[in-house]
Amino acid sequence: MRIKLVAGNWKMNGSRASNQALVETLLPALSQIAGVKCAVCAPYPYLAQLQQALSGSGVAWGAQDVSQFESGAYTGEVSGSMLVEFGCRYTIVGHSERRTLFGDTNQIAAEKYAAALKTGLTPIFCVGETLQEREAGKTEAVVAAQLAAVLDRSRAQSFAQAVIAYEPVWAIGTGKTATPAEAQAVHAFLRSQLADQDATVAEKVQILYGGSVKAANAAELFAMADIDGGLIGGASLDATEFAAICSAAAGAAG
Ligand code: PGA
Repeated sequence: MRIKLVAGNWKMNGSRASNQALVETLLPALSQIAGVKCAVCAPYPYLAQLQQALSGSGVAWGAQDVSQFESGAYTGEVSGSMLVEFGCRYTIVGHSERRTLFGDTNQIAAEKYAAALKTGLTPIFCVGETLQEREAGKTEAVVAAQLAAVLDRSRAQSFAQAVIAYEPVWAIGTGKTATPAEAQAVHAFLRSQLADQDATVAEKVQILYGGSVKAANAAELFAMADIDGGLIGGASLDATEFAAICSAAAGAAG
């Protein structure tokens, strides 16, 4: 049985004051919920604040990106070992906003995934198709290619220390969620792609769904056989909403 994981992706939101308020509401709510892993992925400058606020709480934290390089003349970049120094367990890799706005190709995402693993971080590796690709019947081909870049670079066994997030681009921040059946179909496909190379790892890897998940639709998504939790954007900025999503995951865990 796979334990569920709910990870918040704060994106470029927050302030010291609003983060503090969010965490202060979130921690007591999450302490009532057992049987699910929770994490928040914050902008880099706030990782020290999260380290202080979340240490010992059972809620993990992480970054939203990581450099593919270890150190050196890479102005503006942040390495995996730096993230580890601030207690990060996770980093998101290959988010569609990185891919479309900041030039992260399949190749770069695969390099970042490898760099994260090398420093002991757990990458949350994102895949997903655009609306145009879905309508052209290319969903499986697109996510397979995104996954293949990582499999070529790091092998299937690496997913013993990684998480996958399926995030259809058309569902991110749009209020349009994939139906549970649509999401389940892609999750099962991703798991089968991994199983072709390593059945044991495929069975164990957590595959999260992301894209307009909220308290109102979380339970039906998390009830699907291959949906092992969620990557939550907008709704993770609201403590009550995020806690309710974690609670839905806990309810679906059995
Ligand atoms: P959303 O974002 O929940 O706001 O749709 C999800 C994500 O981009 O990770």
